[in-house]
Amino acid sequence: MIVETGTIEVRPVSGALGAEIHGVDLSEPLSEEVFSDIRQAFWDHSVIFFRDQDLTPEQHIAFAERWGAINVNRFFKQVEGYPKIAEVRKEPEQEKNIGRFWHTDHSYDQIPAMASVLYAKEVPDVGGDTLFASMHLAHDALSEGMRETLYLLKAHHSSRHVFGKSRGERKSDDRIRNPEEATQDALHPVIICHPDTGRRALYVNRSFTVRIDGWTEQESKHLLEFLYDHAANPEFTCRFRWEEGSIATWDNRVTWHRALNDYPGQRRCMHRITLEGVPVHGVE
Ligand code: SIN
Repeated sequence: MIVETGTIEVRPVSGALGAEIHGVDLSEPLSEEVFSDIRQAFWDHSVIFFRDQDLTPEQHIAFAERWGAINVNRFFKQVEGYPKIAEVRKEPEQEKNIGRFWHTDHSYDQIPAMASVLYAKEVPDVGGDTLFASMHLAHDALSEGMRETLYLLKAHHSSRHVFGKSRGERKSDDRIRNPEEATQDALHPVIICHPDTGRRALYVNRSFTVRIDGWTEQESKHLLEFLYDHAANPEFTCRFRWEEGSIATWDNRVTWHRALNDYPGQRRCMHRITLEGVPVHGVE
């Protein structure tokens, strides 16, 4: 249902999560009233989208800083002159894209990122959409018995196997830097409570979660594979078709995302700013 809040229009994009926000120009300073309606939409829909925005890097940074402090990305190439903005780019001759597997950003940090603000600079004519999945819905659809079991568990997450030196392909990929800094390991509850709304969400992801605390690798693998299959149910997802000037801002604690790699021979260039989070807690 489309909601007019009085300052913005909020149009859900799927039954699961995601809403387009209309009636706002992010190049202008936002009043407290407008920003508070945007933040409410972010809490209600977990990922929000804006269209037709024309932002300088300074304006992109200013919008991101309305949410909180910026986390300077260690591993992605930076936009020249703007270390706070990471570049997510695929050139026509490159085969692999960044973020092609389901993940949440920075779950390998003990205080994981709150959100990312991704701004489309150049997009293919068709393809390169991003999928998002609601980890609230993934949690809610589990049986009570499974949920009660998961509330007791924690999982280890790491950056090492993704951004570290051991990844041979890194040598030929100048989009990823500082492999020697990929030393982050974190332990998080398998189910977290959203720090602002208290709503529960599944908090494991295929890219960065490595095992369940106290379980063997084999035991962990079976449970994690079940959870990954369960959470990727299309009914928990939405799909965003980018245009130049589109912006997505996702709640990184309670969503997964995944960038589709279906545009061979074309360029896609996005500017990403990631925001610092707060510690995440499980179910008490
Ligand atoms: C990312 O994984 O942060 C990038 C997503 C995208 O390029 O759509």
